[in-house]
Amino acid sequence: MPLLELIILVFVLLTVLSIVWTTLQTGISPMMSSGKACQAMLASIEMPANGPLIDLGSGWGTLVIALARKHPRQQVIGYELSWFPWLVSIIRKYSLRLDNLTLYRKAFNNAELSNASILFCYLFPGGMVALHKKLKRELLNEILIVSNTFALPSCQPTKVTRLKDFYRTPIYVYYWRPKFSFTPRKNNDDKPYSKNEEKHLISHSTRPTK
Ligand SMILES: C[S@@+](CC[C@H](N)C(=O)[O-])C[C@H]1O[C@@H](n2cnc3c(N)ncnc32)[C@H](O)[C@@H]1O
Repeated sequence: MPLLELIILVFVLLTVLSIVWTTLQTGISPMMSSGKACQAMLASIEMPANGPLIDLGSGWGTLVIALARKHPRQQVIGYELSWFPWLVSIIRKYSLRLDNLTLYRKAFNNAELSNASILFCYLFPGGMVALHKKLKRELLNEILIVSNTFALPSCQPTKVTRLKDFYRTPIYVYYWRPKFSFTPRKNNDDKPYSKNEEKHLISHSTRPTK
């Protein structure tokens, strides 16, 4: 086998392995939002907003690029752990000259979200539980959250749009107000969720059926 073909093969194998590895680590593959989902997410927000628009897990850049193109005066930020999708999104950003878009290759879990005006996500039930904990712990200001497919546990969405696709995929919009957006907890304290509570929250945030 010629050397060039061997190098390409090794590169492809390493890339696939790294995507599989990060998928196992994070619990979600870098599957991109569909065109309909992107449109619905873009349509669900009102502009102008004060702080940056942040995508929690920006994947190949599908949503952040659509946001940055539609709102060129708005700062758009993406956090992504998987290096290959992140690299592709960086190449797309520079080829489209999107100066208002910043893409970090790191976990959003440790990111500062308090200055954001709108958070976007397309995660999975466990990821929504982790996000809920982070918001509860760190976010003291009001903010909009737009989630593709998965609900934010214990929070009442202000709007749910169902896409005209096979799954009738829901797009949830939450208006996060730290003190008032929750169903009150029984013990009304700020203790971490127990394993049982987490299970309960997860079972309430899976993809709804028709
Ligand atoms: C289903 S994809 C969504 C991609 C993009 N937001 C979109 O709508 O097209 C979810 C992405 O979140 C990333 N992800 C999951 N947990 C993450 C974390 N804690 N920090 C950063 N990225 C994460 C995954 O690697 C994956 O690429």
